[in-house]
Amino acid sequence: MEQLKELLSLYSKPTSYYTQFKKSSHHLLLKNRRFFKQFQYTVPSPTSYPYQWLWDSIFHALVLGHFSPKDAKKELLSLVSKQFPNGLIPHMIYWKKGKVINLDWGKNGTSSITQPPLLAYAVWKIYQKDRDQKFLEDIYPHLSAYYHYLLIDRDPRENHLIGIINPDESGEDDSPRFDIPLRLPPQHTQQENFKRRLNLIKQNFKTCHFDAPFCMKNFFWVKDVPFNAIIVESLGCLANIAAQVKHKEEARYFSKKALLIRDAMRKLMMEDGIFWSTYDQDYKKIKVLTWAIFAPLFAKIYTPEEARSAVKDHLLNPDEFYLKFLVPTVSRSEPSFNANGFWRGPVWMATNWFIYKGLVNYGFFNLAQELLESSIKLIKQSGFREQFNPLTGEGRGAKEFTWGTLIIDMIEDRLD
Ligand code: GLC
Repeated sequence: MEQLKELLSLYSKPTSYYTQFKKSSHHLLLKNRRFFKQFQYTVPSPTSYPYQWLWDSIFHALVLGHFSPKDAKKELLSLVSKQFPNGLIPHMIYWKKGKVINLDWGKNGTSSITQPPLLAYAVWKIYQKDRDQKFLEDIYPHLSAYYHYLLIDRDPRENHLIGIINPDESGEDDSPRFDIPLRLPPQHTQQENFKRRLNLIKQNFKTCHFDAPFCMKNFFWVKDVPFNAIIVESLGCLANIAAQVKHKEEARYFSKKALLIRDAMRKLMMEDGIFWSTYDQDYKKIKVLTWAIFAPLFAKIYTPEEARSAVKDHLLNPDEFYLKFLVPTVSRSEPSFNANGFWRGPVWMATNWFIYKGLVNYGFFNLAQELLESSIKLIKQSGFREQFNPLTGEGRGAKEFTWGTLIIDMIEDRLD
């Protein structure tokens, strides 16, 4: 504990690099802020991603919570304002027509798919900041409808694993975890990958008519580890929120569901000491080593012994994830590994954030610190970029990209 305090005091010194970093992070979030009528949101990157994205907005809100809870709440209320009648919260809201993406992923100015269900987690964290009961009451009906939709429509066989209908719903668009379900070899072009994903979007319109169970049964039946770990953690928060707004029955329901998903993950996803995503109706395991094996640390799903082995055998393994910069999204041992390949190897700050929180959960403080230092080093060297080559630290993809600001939450959440 003393050691932890000492490490954290490094960041509270007014002259430290961190003070500068905090300023530039807030500046970036303000620069990327947009308004539409009464709505306020943040674009992940002004040039590459000029819209509102679901999990990006959750990250923004988590960081904004440390600067201005009022802005964090506005970001989330804008996000839920385009919820579908069936409860789905779309992963993209266009608000205004941008130049970059003329592709229509949905209808009525939004996409037709969702992204990892971290929303209740963020709402609960932000509520801790100012105990704004009205915010909880305003947002709760949206949360309740969204998680009910996921728990029911995305689990048609009631096996208690929540399904995604498109790789993009994982937030990791072209991750090699989805190569097998997309019937693609480990090495293929980005265009080929995109074509398959786009085809799933078209099927969602044309053949499934937005009926997720039908879409899953016929086109893409994947139960993804991070998506399920994130919902487990978020359902715990949702149960707290439900209790706080006096929906006791629902609070019990959400807690129970979290336990059922946790058990189902163990039953259907666990092998060789780690959790694997599954595909098709018979839950075949997708044995591709990606950062997803660490996602259950975020929701404390591994036992302490299992966590120790996962960290020792994989995270600290130089033939897999222990590269010069932490943490590559794909193990270097995979034939699909590509240090410059979007979600096929580079470091992303959001996945680092999940792993960092997971390491702290289990008391791996030194390794968490190492991951934090590595993340800071990447931004120092290459700026606020979308991804980073794990071997050289070179920045890749979008510029003025907001996810690097998550470092603020890694540090501040522990200082609180
Ligand atoms: C890319 C990422 C996705 C993110 C979006 C906006 O598509 O893969 O996770 O939400 O960009 O930043």
